[in-house]
Amino acid sequence: TQVIGLIGAMDEEVELLLGQLENKETTVRAGVTYASGTIHGKQVVVCKSGVGKVNAAVTTQILIDFFGVSNILFTGVAGALHPELNIGDIVISSSCMQHDMDVTPLGFARGVIPYQELSDFPADASLIQLAEEACKEQAVNHYIVGKVLSGDQFIASRDTVQTLYEELNGACAEMEGSAVAQVCYMNGVPYVVIRSMSDKADGSAHVNFPEFTVKASKRSHEIVNYMLGKL
Ligand code: ADE
Repeated sequence: TQVIGLIGAMDEEVELLLGQLENKETTVRAGVTYASGTIHGKQVVVCKSGVGKVNAAVTTQILIDFFGVSNILFTGVAGALHPELNIGDIVISSSCMQHDMDVTPLGFARGVIPYQELSDFPADASLIQLAEEACKEQAVNHYIVGKVLSGDQFIASRDTVQTLYEELNGACAEMEGSAVAQVCYMNGVPYVVIRSMSDKADGSAHVNFPEFTVKASKRSHEIVNYMLGKL
């Protein structure tokens, strides 16, 4: 039977899933608590990875090795890069790439991981399709299927937003998705990242980040919850 791995980086992003979990059992590995159980009768493992690519990578590999997950859904918030995205809107990952991978001094394009075939890791087509269906069913006014850019940086300037959008074609910026994506790719595990916009990555986030994070996390959770009912 399939086991679905569910990851968020922060408490706000996973608490709604944890609240739904039935027959809950917890295990701690590498400092992260993995909560196994069922949601809508589906076997799942929910965890809070912590912020950043290293936390996300370790967590993803543990989900695969120790919990044998069949696929991974990431739920959370992000900063909008695409000019048409507003706070609360959804980005479904078409792929994920690390915007802070920079070996340009050796002639590699920004975001390219040297000496390997892939740096922009495609999400699973059927998970993308299901996420789109969820947005339509949940009457999410605005969603985009686009490239998720990750880096160990909180983006907070208009100039950076413009560069990441124009140079790398990013729809949103966050700090974990491409680590999850890369580890999933290395292990042949399907994934998709669902992100709701908590801010516009323009330097105004500190004003209302906590408030918008709670609201945006709910949005992202609604999508994932719908998907869990159908998987
Ligand atoms: N997560 C939410 N907003 C973000 C931003 N502006 N940059 C990086 N990660 C984020």
